[in-house]
Parts: sequence; structure tokens; C-alpha cells
Amino acid sequence: MKLRNVIYCGDNLDWMRKMPDDCVDLIYADPPFFSNRHYEVIWNDGAEIRSFEDGWSGGINHYIEWMWLRCFEMHRILKPAGSLYLHCDWHASHYLKVMLDEVFAKQKCFRNEIVWCYRKWSTRGGQFARNHDVILFYTKNTDSRHTFNALYTDVSAGTMRRWKGRKQVAQFEAGVRKAAYEPREQARTPMPDWWPISILNPNSKERLGYPTQKPRVLLERIIEASSNPGHLVLDPFCGCGTTLAVAQRLGRDWIGIDVSPTACKLMKRRVEQAGATGVEIVGLPMTDDDLRSLKPFEFQNWVIGVMGGTVSERKVKDMGIDGYTYFERWPIQVKQQDKVGRPEVDKFETALERYGERMRKAADERGNGTFALKGIIVAFSFTKDAHEEVATAKSRGLDIWLMTVDGVRSEFGASS
Ligand SMILES: C[S@@+](CC[C@H](N)C(=O)[O-])C[C@H]1O[C@@H](n2cnc3c(N)ncnc32)[C@H](O)[C@@H]1O
Repeated sequence: MKLRNVIYCGDNLDWMRKMPDDCVDLIYADPPFFSNRHYEVIWNDGAEIRSFEDGWSGGINHYIEWMWLRCFEMHRILKPAGSLYLHCDWHASHYLKVMLDEVFAKQKCFRNEIVWCYRKWSTRGGQFARNHDVILFYTKNTDSRHTFNALYTDVSAGTMRRWKGRKQVAQFEAGVRKAAYEPREQARTPMPDWWPISILNPNSKERLGYPTQKPRVLLERIIEASSNPGHLVLDPFCGCGTTLAVAQRLGRDWIGIDVSPTACKLMKRRVEQAGATGVEIVGLPMTDDDLRSLKPFEFQNWVIGVMGGTVSERKVKDMGIDGYTYFERWPIQVKQQDKVGRPEVDKFETALERYGERMRKAADERGNGTFALKGIIVAFSFTKDAHEEVATAKSRGLDIWLMTVDGVRSEFGASS
């Protein structure tokens, strides 16, 4: 199993079980939060909105059991000097702390409960605004032989004024604490366990549209504090790849895991932008069973991605077009079904005709009138009726290509 600069697609439990003991220096894990929320995710060009679930059926015990299995593996694969940062919030942080105390065996492995505080508009009355997340920091070792680079913050302007440009520090002489002063330029304080860092606002340049994307600064602190250049950083719930991009920039090796093929492709792009080359995604769904078990939008993204096409914007999706071939801009409709028949082909004809009208109008305006009206439907299989309907449509000038998932695989040479 490759253990350097690779993205694994699939359940992190399966992938982590394949990893050897004591091989990772730092793990940052940002799992679904047990929040029962449905996010709207904006993918690609910012117009396509799809839903992303962070819900949990079966209650908190079920969630903690699910997390326990994964935290057990994280503990096993950490090197003796390694660290885990588990990102969570009020929904489950207290349950997770109790569970992690058990997995990490001794209380002494617990280092910090880091509070990431931010400002966020809250509409809920009768209580204080919930404006922080919790990051639980554990080390595999109970003693001080773990990697830790102390970080510092600047002393506040108020403190500097009060101490007239010098900062009081404690010094020990023969075991006795004495006050001493540091000159202004050295006046820094060890970083506390509460970190005021802004959340990514909707206009932030850093924002990719992934609803749970974390700020780069947050990951910089964690990676700088608990790893050194050349160390291996793992993010088993990698999302849009914030950890990988920061690790790459800071000269660390990395492994990202996510169950979503779309997220894996997004993080590959991101880490390449950060300077990585030859990045491989291992485990993208390939068999029919894999593909049938994908969420519908993941399946569409897989098909259109393999065909090298572009996924359509939501407003066009309403017309029944899921994407387009890259060069010719032929519409593609994707059905995660077997035996797609005449009714589906009929509906696609209507969508194609509407698309054709728009295209014809645009072509007329440009003064280059004629173009072929072609489209593709992809499904696991088609009925005889569907093929007959395609022949009828051809006589009306509509060229529809019925393509099976197998056909997509062999035509476009899909590989994991
Ligand atoms: C809260 S998001 C992580 C966001 C990430 N920190 C970022 O900055 O983009 C949680 C991610 O975990 C992934 N996920 C959920 N269950 C998983 C599993 N069993 N194995 C791997 N990934 C999983 C989801 O697809 C989602 O991308």
C-alpha cells in the first residue's frame, strides 16, 4: 500500500485497516458532526448546488460506536511520537472526549481541548450564540517524547503599553520564580488553547464551495505544531483537501481519504495547485456494484468525469440535462438505472429539442445557422423500446446515442 502523497477513495475504516502500525506522524480528523444537517454544496463553477448530508440515524451511541472503530485505527497507525487532532463541536464533543480517553488509554495522552472561536451571525434567541468548535488534541505517548513545536502569539498592544515596550516573563533561579523583562521585539506569549480565527466568509478567496471547508490558518497551526518537514500527515475525512494543500506547502508528506469520489477529485486538483505532481487517486468506484451504491449526484459526476465532460448548472439540470461533452457540447443525461425505456427517451427528446432551440437561436444570432442535434443517455441497460424510440427520433432529426456504463468504461478507458 502506498503511504506517501496519495488519495484513497472509500470508507476510511477499510483503508486505515490496511495501513501498518506506527506509520503516521500526525492525523487531523474532521468527521461528520452528528448534526443532522443537510448542507447545500456548490460544486464546480459555483452554480451547481447539491445536497450533502451530515445526519445520523440511530442516535449518539451509534455515532460514537462508528467513531470508536475509526479512532481505534487512528491510534494504531500513529507513530509513538505522533498526534491526533479530532475536530468536533457541541453536538458530540463531550461524548467523543470520553471515548478518546478510553482509546488513548491514559488521561496523560490528552493534551488540549482547543477552542476555535469565530464570529457568526446567530438567529436563535434565548441562549448565547454558538460560536466555537472544539478540537481534541491527543498524543500516542504519555510522556514528552512527542513531536511538538511551540507556537507563539504576539503580545497585545494593550499589554505592551502597560509594560512600556517590555514584557514580564517568569525566570527560575535555583528553583525560585523571579520576574524579569523581555525587550519588545522578543515579546511573544506561548499560544493558548483558544484560537480566534475567522470562518471562511462567502466572499473569501480561499472558499471552494465545500460547506465544511476549514480555514487554511487553522491547519497551518496544527501541522506546524505537531509535525516537521518530511513527516507524514493523514486526513481520513479529507473533504476538499485543506489539510493536504497545507501539508504540501509546508513540505510534509500526506495521505487523504474520503468516501466521496467528487471530493477526492477536488482535493487532487487542490493539492496539485499547491505544487504536488503525479498525484494518484486509488479506489475510485469501478465495478457496477460500486457504481450502483453511489449517491445519484456522485454517480453523475463519475460518468461525466470519465467522459471528460462538464457537469451542467442547476438551472439547466431542470431540463433533464446532467452535463455536456467537452468539445461538441452534446447534452448528456445520466440514469443510475437498469432497463431505461421509451418514457425516459421521450423526456430526453423534449430536453434536447428545448436545448436545440436555444442553440439554434444563438447560432442564428452569430450567423452560422446549422448544427447537428445530438445527445447521449447513459444507463446500466436499455429496453428494446428505448432503441426503437431512438430510431423514430432519428427520422425527426434527433440523434440520440444510448450508452451503457460498460460502454462508457471501454470507450473512455476509465481507470481507478
Ligand atoms: C466535515 S467534512 C471534512 C471537511 C474538510 N476538513 C475540509 O476542510 O474540506 C467530512 C468529510 O468526511 C467524509 N466522510 C464521511 N464519512 C466518511 C468515511 N466513512 N470515510 C471517509 N470519508 C468520509 C465526507 O464525504 C466529507 O467530505
